[in-house]
Amino acid sequence: MSPSDRSRAEAPQAPSTGGVNPPGNVWQASVLSLFPEMFPGPLGLSLAGRALRDGKWAIEATDIRSFATDRHRTVDDTPAGGGAGMVMRPDVLDTAIAGVMPEGDARPLIYLTPRGRLLDQAMVRGLAEGPGCVLLCGRYEGIDQRVIEARGMVEVSIGDYVLSGGETAALVLLDACVRLLPGVMGAADSATEESHGGEGLLEYPHYTRPAEWQGRAIPEVLLSGHHADIARWRRAESERITKERRPDLWARHEAKQRGAGGMDGHPAAA
Ligand code: ADE
Repeated sequence: MSPSDRSRAEAPQAPSTGGVNPPGNVWQASVLSLFPEMFPGPLGLSLAGRALRDGKWAIEATDIRSFATDRHRTVDDTPAGGGAGMVMRPDVLDTAIAGVMPEGDARPLIYLTPRGRLLDQAMVRGLAEGPGCVLLCGRYEGIDQRVIEARGMVEVSIGDYVLSGGETAALVLLDACVRLLPGVMGAADSATEESHGGEGLLEYPHYTRPAEWQGRAIPEVLLSGHHADIARWRRAESERITKERRPDLWARHEAKQRGAGGMDGHPAAA
């Protein structure tokens, strides 16, 4: 494969050797897509864009079609058993994967698909701590099951809705990972207090000047200077919002609290 087959926006590359990224190694994303021009896309701007230019992460987007072997550069075919749409061919995909994953590449190979495991902050944290990832973006009806199995792909979905392809899902996954890389985010603790942080609660509301806007005042406690009261108010708001909007997260949070809280909720305490 010639370098012109790839749309590159890379920092100097370092080989990845394990599940944890050794300090100094660049977090490397490789994307396989029929639309490599979609990368880095929005990730070339703002926080992620600056980190990309600073060499804190790297991305190479590779055109799957450049691995097709016939005159028409075919990447898909009709589904075995009949039905609508087209399926991406396993042979073309396998060669494409081999083209971006050298022997012994420790990065997980992720196939973005609405039938995958739901992406969450725990998965994002795990990926950000590793050497990077290889993302396969599907189009059409999907990809041949045999290449998923043969390559041990991890199937990941970003939500219970269907996108027109895996590319926008890949951008979402990369954005979530890159912002957690060392030195990418400005304020060190803004990642720990936010929604989906360690506590499993959604974030409390934020306010800034002016103190009154369109007849709406900032909650008095936030202007009191009383740090303990402010912390209590924020905690109560986080709990209220989580309970209201995400009963699933609230139930998990409560179960965790019971687990950590000794006899609370234990049958012996009843
Ligand atoms: N491809 C199409 N829809 C998707 C989704 N919800 N998540 C990941 N990949 C997708």
